[in-house]
This record gives sequence, C-alpha cells and structure tokens, in this order.
Amino acid sequence: MMLFGTQRINESGRLEIGGCDTADLAREFGTPLYIMDEELMVENCRRYVRAYKRLYQEGETEIAFAGKAFLTMSMCIIAAREGLSLDVVSAGEINTALKAEYPMERIIFHGNNKSVEEIELALDVNVGRIVIDNLQEIDLLNRIAVGRSKSVDALLRLTPGIDPHTHKLIRTGQADTKFGLNIKDGSAMKGVKAALAAPAINLKGIHCHVGSQLLDTEAHEQAAEVMVAFMKEVLDETGYEVEQLNLGGGLGIRYTESQKPPSIEEFAERVIGVVRREIARLGLRLPRLIQEPGRSIVGEAGATLYTIGAIKEVPITEDPGRRTYVAVDGGMSDNPRPALYDAVYTAFVANKANQRADWLVTIAGKHCESDTLIKDTRIARADAGDLLAVLSTGAYNYSMASNYNRFPSLAAVLVRGGRAEVIVRRGTLDDLLANDVIPERLRSAATSGVGG
Ligand SMILES: Cc1ncc(COP(=O)(O)O)c(C=O)c1O
Repeated sequence: MMLFGTQRINESGRLEIGGCDTADLAREFGTPLYIMDEELMVENCRRYVRAYKRLYQEGETEIAFAGKAFLTMSMCIIAAREGLSLDVVSAGEINTALKAEYPMERIIFHGNNKSVEEIELALDVNVGRIVIDNLQEIDLLNRIAVGRSKSVDALLRLTPGIDPHTHKLIRTGQADTKFGLNIKDGSAMKGVKAALAAPAINLKGIHCHVGSQLLDTEAHEQAAEVMVAFMKEVLDETGYEVEQLNLGGGLGIRYTESQKPPSIEEFAERVIGVVRREIARLGLRLPRLIQEPGRSIVGEAGATLYTIGAIKEVPITEDPGRRTYVAVDGGMSDNPRPALYDAVYTAFVANKANQRADWLVTIAGKHCESDTLIKDTRIARADAGDLLAVLSTGAYNYSMASNYNRFPSLAAVLVRGGRAEVIVRRGTLDDLLANDVIPERLRSAATSGVGG
C-alpha cells in the first residue's frame, strides 16, 4: 500500500495521519476534508534546502515555495519558518503572505499579465523581486516604479524552447507558450537590453519554468543548459553578468504506485550537475541558484477524506459488463484535476484500510458533470457512511477548488503529533451568498409578486 510521511494504518485498521485517526478527524471536522501532514511538508522543505546547499557549496542557493500549489496563511508561516522564499502570482497571493506577516523581501512575484494594481501593490509592500514576463511589462514596471521614486529588483522570465513530457496544459517551457520571452527568436536578448536600460529596474537575473509533474529530469537538464548558454551570450553581448538563475519548479510526485519521480536529492544532483558543468565550461561565475518547487513540497503531504454515499451498479458494454459507481460527498469542486488533466489518484477506504482492496469501482463525485474522481480502481468492500481517503491531494486541489454547484469550500486541517488544527475553516452556505447582490428593481418585483 502506498503511504506517505506520517500516514500509517493503526491497530484499529484505520488510516492515521500525523498521529490522528481519520475516523476521529471526520467526526470532529466533517467531510470532505483536506488533511495536511505538517511533518512531511517540513521534511520536504528541509530536504530541498539541504540538498541545494550541499551540492552547490561555492554558490548561494535559494528555495522558493510556489504558492500556487497550496497557499494559506499557515502555509506562508511554515515556508517562512523553514527559510523558504515564496513565489506568488497575484494580488490575492501577495495579500495572503502580507497578512501572514511573511517577509516581503523574500517574495518573488510572477505573472504573465500583471495588472497595474498588482504591480502597484507589489511595489507598495516592497516585494523582493518581480519576474518580468514580457517587453510591455518592462515599460509598465519601470513607469510605475519611476512614479513612486523606487527601484525594483527583477528577473526576466525566459522560454528555453524545451518540450517536457507532461500533460499539455502544464507544459510551459516550449516555444508556443504565453509565458516568458523566447530565447531563440531574440526576444529574450531584447528583454535583457530593455531591462538594463530601464532606470528603475535592477536586473538581477533570469528565470524559466518548463512544466509541472515531471517524472524525470531531462527537461530541467536541457533547460539548465540553454539558460547557462544564454547567460554567456548576455555577458558577451552586453557585458552584464547574470547574478541569479531561477530554474522554476516542476518535480513530479507519486499519484499512483507506478509513478516513480526522482527524489528531491536526485533531482538536485542532476540539475545542479548541469549548471555547474556548463558554468565551468563557459568560464562564468556561479550565479545564485533558485528553485521554485510547489507540488513536490505539499502534494504527497495532503490527503482528502470523503464520506461514501450512493453506490450504484450500471450495465456497460465493455468488460466486465457492469460498473460500480461509489459516490463521495465532494468531487470536482474540491479536486478539478481529473477533469482538467485526466489526473489519476489512489484511494482506499480509510476506516477499512487493512481489508483487501479487491472491489473494482469507479469513484464518482456529486457534481452535475460526469465528475469522476478515479475510474476503475480497487478498494475494500464499502458501504454508505464509510470513509474514502484520496492520497496526494496536497497540491493544486485546495488552490484550484471552486464553488461549482454552490458547494461550500472544504475545511483544511494541519495534523502533527496527534493534534489536528484547522487552517482553513469550512465554508458555509451563507458564505456562498456573501457577494450576491440583488438589484432593488428585482427585489421589489419579487416582493410585489410581479411576474413575467
Ligand atoms: C513560475 C512557476 N514556478 C514554479 C511552479 C511550481 O511548479 P511545481 O508545482 O510543478 O513544482 C510553477 C507551476 O506552474 C510556475 O509556473
């Protein structure tokens, strides 16, 4: 059985995470429930920091947590405590960090279409670095900074032209992408020159992110090679020496037992190996090396606990002639990844975790779509009221959730050493109405019973 971090099957045959029995968690906090294993998140942060420090001794390293994977105020505090920088992409994410008193100088602000308001906010709260995506943004950022008599440290997001093996919607390093400045067509060099000429921009370095959920290091190694070669080109053509090289995130995790991503240490070794080799070969100075992992820090640390409800058998034309749908009390509003990316997951009956998983079922959500969480998986025989745990939901679940069908948002608990603490409270039915406005005209029509 695939288990992560502090997950274990206890003497009662139930799944336990962070020393908390999932049946107790369901009783106390209700379902569906996101459960985050603090120890595993912290361990992943520390493994990144340690591996990069150890393997890149002569140079400085920096690990930035990619907030898009899972950002709450508590997560900001954990990242700060572990010495991680924070990658954010919106005013909402900046504000989350701000309210959590995360040190603004450690923020790296991304985005392919930052609004004037977002840039103004970033400058007003003094975020550490802005990653500029395009030529237009160089002008915009410079203008806003000049207007505030400020200067801003910046990186340029580049497109290294690498096509990684992952789902098409999470590939970002190839030439045909909305992100960054293309190296091959000369846009990147144009960007460097424009940024160097912009009086309010301190160009600190370059950035790329080739894609997400990558199960080997090939694309990262190729990207590192292209980026270092570009550093040399920049030095030769402009005399500017790139100080910071940010190679983005992307290391994959295990959603199923068959997926075997490299470990954090193997990943670091491969990527750093290429950076060091290419830097030495081209006679450059080692830049500060930045990596921005999201999924590989929080993904396996999260599980979602559901209650099983309706169970239905239907006839199908393929083998074995029938399909059993096991419906749970959540679905695509708390985990849109199966619908978006055909993402696969592993689940088991959390309160019957030591029973044989030999019942072939399809796990359905309760939304008005086909809303299938897991197609054709084997779980222990279960009944309505049993608990289903879906593993590896710590990344891009909570952060991509919606209120589709007016489902209130889930609670999230942080578990550690037998304690479970709410870090996101469960949304209420009234929360769903918080932004609804009824124009007076409709209100009076409703009360006066005017139809038509
Ligand atoms: C710029 C940037 N950095 C980092 C990440 C994090 O990637 P991952 O969660 O795959 O590590 C992303 C994800 O899309 C990204 O766009």
